[in-house]
Amino acid sequence: MTNNYSEQAKSVLQSNWTGEFTKPAPHLYPHQWNWDSGFIALGYSHFDEDSAKKELRHLFKGQWANGMLPQIQFKKESGISKYFPGADFWQTSKVLDKPKNVRTSGITMPPVHGFILWHMANNVTDKQSFLPFIREMFPKIKRLHQYLYVYRDLEKEGLPYIRHPWSSGTDNSPVWDDVMNRIEIDRFELPTYERKDLQNKKAKSHRPTDADYDRYVYLVDLFRKNNYNEELLDQLSPFKVQDPLFIGILNYSNECMVKLAEIIDVDATPFINWRNLTTKGLNSKLWNESNKRYDAYDLVNHQRLSNFTCNSFIPLLSGAPSVERAQQMLQVMFNEHLNNQDHYPCPSFALNQEKANYEKYWRGPVWININWMLYLGCKRYGFTEAATAIRDGSIELIEKFGFHEYFDPRKSILKNGYGTDNFSWSAALYLEFINS
Ligand code: GLC
Repeated sequence: MTNNYSEQAKSVLQSNWTGEFTKPAPHLYPHQWNWDSGFIALGYSHFDEDSAKKELRHLFKGQWANGMLPQIQFKKESGISKYFPGADFWQTSKVLDKPKNVRTSGITMPPVHGFILWHMANNVTDKQSFLPFIREMFPKIKRLHQYLYVYRDLEKEGLPYIRHPWSSGTDNSPVWDDVMNRIEIDRFELPTYERKDLQNKKAKSHRPTDADYDRYVYLVDLFRKNNYNEELLDQLSPFKVQDPLFIGILNYSNECMVKLAEIIDVDATPFINWRNLTTKGLNSKLWNESNKRYDAYDLVNHQRLSNFTCNSFIPLLSGAPSVERAQQMLQVMFNEHLNNQDHYPCPSFALNQEKANYEKYWRGPVWININWMLYLGCKRYGFTEAATAIRDGSIELIEKFGFHEYFDPRKSILKNGYGTDNFSWSAALYLEFINS
């Protein structure tokens, strides 16, 4: 379907295209981000298959020899970097596993690529001519999953952990508070740094705090001092969290890779095994029977991190919960997020909580990528009313307020979207919502 907004969505993507990949936004995010690129490629698959393929190919140029796919691949640029932390701060150049001639950060992000490839394969018009691309990407995505199960799932629970809030993509979510607050900052030890994300007037009240940034920097500094050595960091990192969002996404990618393996006639066994293991892990260790949702788990302090955030519901996407549990989750989600005429679905943090802040990044606002994944989750269980509410709410947000990065859920307050405008994944997933 084509409408005026679809045309605008396409031009957002085209204007953020650098010639090699698409920036998440024109100024705030000037490099290539991992899960953004997945959503962006999916958006392109509706109108420009060639760019969709280029996007993912370029992203995987940054993949390390151990399979790790970095959160950021830095654009080659001269002059002063407009982004902090830039390539120089990450100091990944000495890492032997990093491909030469590519500058990357040293942590990963939610592994959306397996399921993105599956949805792309469904979107493209000529299925046959897309097969070589599936064959090309398949082994790369397999190496990424292998990396996660080998290095991040040492107890073989099927629940690969993350070492930095940025790896979940939900940077300052209340999920991480307990773990982050435990990190004590010594001003004399912390490297000096300058934030570059506060140019916009409103940014200070919306974006993560300086205390958050000190801890983000502390972790990066620890990683770089240890040259990103997996074994050492497994011992040393104060942040080791099993996140239901990251793991739910991985699990859905496992499922989609099984389907893709069948299409290109290769062995699906590793993905079948990973999927079984992860489904079991999610349902035994991370399921919270009293609150009817999935919790994150802190592997350093051996405790649940129980918070009502969007992260808890992402396992719906992968079909991990039984139908009965999914219905219980729907009730919780529906009562809080959907059955409410006064706000848009789905706030990143349930609004009735003390710490909720409707303006602050991942501590309340609505994000379109989360909505899209929750929409898919509801659809797969046949929760049509919920799926439609999420879809319609997302489309309305964009059509009324533009392709913003995040949105205040309160209808009475909302006049403008928040964060950057011309945000690529909002545009890409608008196309997905409209066309699928
Ligand atoms: C922010 C978001 C993250 C996203 C990145 C680039 O850091 O929290 O999820 O990938 O911006 O858009």
